[in-house]
Amino acid sequence: MCGIIGYTGKGNAQKIMLDALELLEYRGYDSAGIALLKEGQTQIVKRAGRVKDLRNLCAEVKPEGTCGIGHTRWATHGGVCDENAHPHRFGRITLIHNGIIENYRELTEKYALEGALVSETDSEVVAAVLEHFYAGDPYSAIRRTVLKLKGTFALAIMFDDQPDKIYAVRNVSPIVAAVTKDGAVLSSDVAAIVPFTADYFVMPEFHVVCLSPGGVEMFDLSGDKAPIDWQKVDWDVSRGGKGGYPFYMEKEIMEQPQVIRETILPRIKDGRPDFTAEGIPDEILAACKRICVIACGTAMHAGLVGKSLIQAMIGIHVDVVMASEFMYNDPVVDKDTLVIAISQSGETIDTLEALKFARKCGSPSISIVNVKGASIARASEHVIYTCAGPEIAVASTKAYTTQLAVLYLITARMAVARGLWSGEKVTEFIEELQRVPQVMERVLEDKEEIHRLAGTILNARDVFMIGRGLDYSILLEGSLKLKEVSYIHSEAYASGELKHGTIALITEDTPVIAVVTQDKLKSKELSNIREVQSRGARVVLLIKEHETMDEGGEWSCVYRLPQMADAFMVMPASVVLQLIAYFVSLDKGLDVDKPRNLAKVVTVE
Ligand code: G6P
Repeated sequence: MCGIIGYTGKGNAQKIMLDALELLEYRGYDSAGIALLKEGQTQIVKRAGRVKDLRNLCAEVKPEGTCGIGHTRWATHGGVCDENAHPHRFGRITLIHNGIIENYRELTEKYALEGALVSETDSEVVAAVLEHFYAGDPYSAIRRTVLKLKGTFALAIMFDDQPDKIYAVRNVSPIVAAVTKDGAVLSSDVAAIVPFTADYFVMPEFHVVCLSPGGVEMFDLSGDKAPIDWQKVDWDVSRGGKGGYPFYMEKEIMEQPQVIRETILPRIKDGRPDFTAEGIPDEILAACKRICVIACGTAMHAGLVGKSLIQAMIGIHVDVVMASEFMYNDPVVDKDTLVIAISQSGETIDTLEALKFARKCGSPSISIVNVKGASIARASEHVIYTCAGPEIAVASTKAYTTQLAVLYLITARMAVARGLWSGEKVTEFIEELQRVPQVMERVLEDKEEIHRLAGTILNARDVFMIGRGLDYSILLEGSLKLKEVSYIHSEAYASGELKHGTIALITEDTPVIAVVTQDKLKSKELSNIREVQSRGARVVLLIKEHETMDEGGEWSCVYRLPQMADAFMVMPASVVLQLIAYFVSLDKGLDVDKPRNLAKVVTVE
């Protein structure tokens, strides 16, 4: 939540800030602002609204300088208004902040700030405390301030009398930094670094980084110089931008066959799943007595598919816990529980905290993360990276299906490690997994047909999605997708549960999307569909090609999914559900990539 950028060098900092904020906008888009430091003068331009609104304001105000910080906000403390937009300034200090300062009220009282603050934010309080401690030595002021803070923070700070310098410090909330050809840059994530360089580092917590036109230096809190652990961005930079699509969401849906190939192929050796490169020993997969998946949102829905797969194929119990609830339900995890944390960003605070707790309880852990070097990857014993590349649309698509791909690999490796499958069965499973990209390509070729299906729910107020077993798991994700990008109220329901109350809501104005892909559940699912049809509902049915529907009924809207083994049908069906959500949002003329109130990276609890 919130994107931060800092740059100092020879370039036009205003342009650099605005361009970077556009790339970071998916982290929050309530308000945006920049501050430029020039010859001891700091000029702030900020406002509620999107980065494009800030760009317009900057065109009028014309702030100048070669050293600056910028912020795009997702409001936590204080409403959405110009005053609460970052950067915040107090005395000689100007800063931007991502995170939450939990003790800001105590600090306001302790340093008698009441009446001196102009915003309602916790962040301005930090600027005031820094000003209180600042006597010419930025390191000392930062050290003393940080020791007073409770909560999470990524802070980028400019001091009026420290020309061309930006200081940064963080706890939990991420910061990456890099050297550019004429200076240095820092950001919340590599998306804004990639236009400058492929070499970057993840700032460790409680260290102070100083950016100057000459480069970057890092110190620990006791003032000793700290070594920098440089990394390389392995994203294909040429894949940046929307690639000719109107929205990132469509581009990212279309990229799925390719990124799934990139996620699975390097992990298949001699036809068997292989995690040697990740250093994951078979014992960790063979010895666990149960599995606990922790994740939020879409990543949690990927975990539900993993649960069905692992329980059915390995026969061990899997819990999928919403990370935001994990700590409040007296979690029972121990050394026999393999914890799998799933997160696209690798920064979701609830997932991170749950993972840390599980590790303290002695649980072995594997995380499935998309962003290299992210906090969850570092907090985990082992990590398997999805190779989805940058996912910019707030609604997750390719990250989800690459998470699923990794869960298939884990299931197969677990079966091998436990000696459960014959060589033939492993080959069969892996061959089917390798077929996923081409099957998805077939679905994507039907984009326009799916667009027409989406038209049938365009004007609905409520939509139900029904299915059983694996079909139900993917509908939970399909329903979330529709809600977040189209603002249509939608609910995924296990079809057997409908008649326990919810069927009362079915009328001829309530379209129902039904997914039927599991042979063993087909006849029950079709009966449940008949029940809603009898109450007047229009049904959009996704069913395997060649499937007979002897049960009769009126099937005005049917999409035939390319055939795969039942366990893999979630892949083509998920793509159809993503496209339906996308086209509804597109046809409603909404901002598909940035749905209201949301943010891509959730770094507050
Ligand atoms: C936010 C995003 C979702 C995502 C969830 C978990 O709500 O908008 O798309 O599924 O966070 O994020 P993570 O980065 O942990 O997968």
